[in-house]
Amino acid sequence: MLNLFQTNTSTGNKANDYQLALKQIEALSADEEDAIAILANASALLNQLFDNVNWVGFYIWRDTELVLGPFQGLPACIRIPFGKGVCGTAVMERKTQRVADVSKFPGHIACDAASQSEIVVPLIIDDTIYGVLDIDSPVTDRFDEVDQTFLEEFVRALEKQLT
Ligand code: SME
Repeated sequence: MLNLFQTNTSTGNKANDYQLALKQIEALSADEEDAIAILANASALLNQLFDNVNWVGFYIWRDTELVLGPFQGLPACIRIPFGKGVCGTAVMERKTQRVADVSKFPGHIACDAASQSEIVVPLIIDDTIYGVLDIDSPVTDRFDEVDQTFLEEFVRALEKQLT
């Protein structure tokens, strides 16, 4: 039986870990309409699942820019304009940005000097940008294609809960 509040740290078997995390976010968000609550639990869930991660959170699209939402990690920059940084680029291109080395990404916004690699997945609801999921790692090239596929699936599940 799925314990929603169990500690769910990485077991080393990504497929199993990710399947469990998907079930957890769906169960945690079921019948819940409050976006802050859903995104807060989502950031906590991902933060304890991933190793070598120093920041997990959401930026929400507000009219003309991204604004900081629920997250786990150090305090971060609050507003990110369209097209700026990795997050603003994900919004502009409407696609996941997987950055192996942030020092090589033109315009990268360094909120935590420890961050070396980063993945940003846009949330799009009814063809409209809702925000982004942003995860930072202190390790270069931390996120592979398997992580990307899982995180995109995770975000699709969130989008359904947020509508
Ligand atoms: N690095 C991001 C900014 C947000 S922080 O990583 C939390 C960017 O370049 O958009």
